[in-house]
Amino acid sequence: MTFEPSTNMSVPNLATPRTPVPPSRLPKVGTTIFTVMSALATEHGAVNLGQGFPDFDGDPKLIDAVADAMRSGLNQYPPMAGVPALRQAVSDKIERLHGRRYDAGSEITITAGATQGILTAILAIVSPGDEVIVLEPCYDSYVPNIELAGGTVVRVALKAGSFRPDFDAIRAAVSSRTRAIIVNSPHNPSATIWRAADMATLAEILRPTDALLISDEVYEHMVFDGEPHASAAAHPELAARSFVVSSFGKTYHVTGWKVGTVVAPAPLTAEFRKVHQFNVFTVNTPMQHGLAAYMADPAPYLQLPAFYQRKRDLFRAGLASTRFRLLPSEGSYFQCVDYSAISSLPEEDFCRWLTAEVGVAAIPLAAFYDDKRNQGLARFCFAKRDETLNTALERLARI
Ligand SMILES: Cc1ncc(COP(=O)(O)O)c(C=O)c1O
Repeated sequence: MTFEPSTNMSVPNLATPRTPVPPSRLPKVGTTIFTVMSALATEHGAVNLGQGFPDFDGDPKLIDAVADAMRSGLNQYPPMAGVPALRQAVSDKIERLHGRRYDAGSEITITAGATQGILTAILAIVSPGDEVIVLEPCYDSYVPNIELAGGTVVRVALKAGSFRPDFDAIRAAVSSRTRAIIVNSPHNPSATIWRAADMATLAEILRPTDALLISDEVYEHMVFDGEPHASAAAHPELAARSFVVSSFGKTYHVTGWKVGTVVAPAPLTAEFRKVHQFNVFTVNTPMQHGLAAYMADPAPYLQLPAFYQRKRDLFRAGLASTRFRLLPSEGSYFQCVDYSAISSLPEEDFCRWLTAEVGVAAIPLAAFYDDKRNQGLARFCFAKRDETLNTALERLARI
């Protein structure tokens, strides 16, 4: 091949600049179904019961507390692990609710939402070759997080139909290479909860191992029908090997603020913070001060189960006269339905049809499985104003 010198060497040829594209770290990741369905909902003017966020605002007192913090000049970097007053408020709350005292100095870290907390925990503990067990269907960030850390994903399905943990399958999946298992209760998407007996069985399975538990408890205050929330923090043996992840966004109806917590015994928190400080370093200051002041009153989170149970009941009562079959909703702000009496379409096609033709957006359960299996199930989010739920119910009643 011959080299043709440019006629004018002083002018670089910028006509076709080349972008070098490295091999993708996450080749299987594309646009999520949540984005797709929300865009479709906007296009068709559909009621969006797809993506999991409230269509109402947080408490004005909380918003005022954040505004006060901003106006009083609390706008610079906070300490790396989080504002001490907020960490103390979290410590006090966990002790009151679950009887375990986490040290605010060495065991509690404020994160940029649960999402960053989970990624940071995984990056802190998973090395290439380590196995991490996920229970499918599962929240969509877990698998890419494990893959970014170079870990191997070990998938165990929750029981078909009931979404209860299959402890025989979990026991069979645990090996000497298991670094961690991720558990999520109340569960997105199935709306099931783990009870104290489930946590005891998990503890028994993990006892002979060095496996850690990442306990995703972002819906901790949305547990219905008088059931308590079975936190990993309440089980001494599990707490000793757990990162417990929580989200202020979910609890206080401010998902866009992206503030959460990760609590873990001091040696685990020390490793967590090594990653956290070079990942986000700190989380926004005024939100943390506002949340700390607001948490002095426990009423908002103590009243949350009743608040969402009423919405769940309103939504379920409306769906009862439709051809959807309701699955139990024990916790979270989700309601799953079986639509097989209405349609034999695969889940994604059914949800697209429901959004475009009926005007209500839902999420296919298949989106939460690696193999995108079809079970004729869809997930609705009922964290919406009553008017929104009633509009959706009127539309759903027509099919
Ligand atoms: C199970 C689960 N974990 C984590 C998150 C993320 O929480 P955050 O918004 O605090 O990052 C969500 C949000 O939908 C979730 O459903």
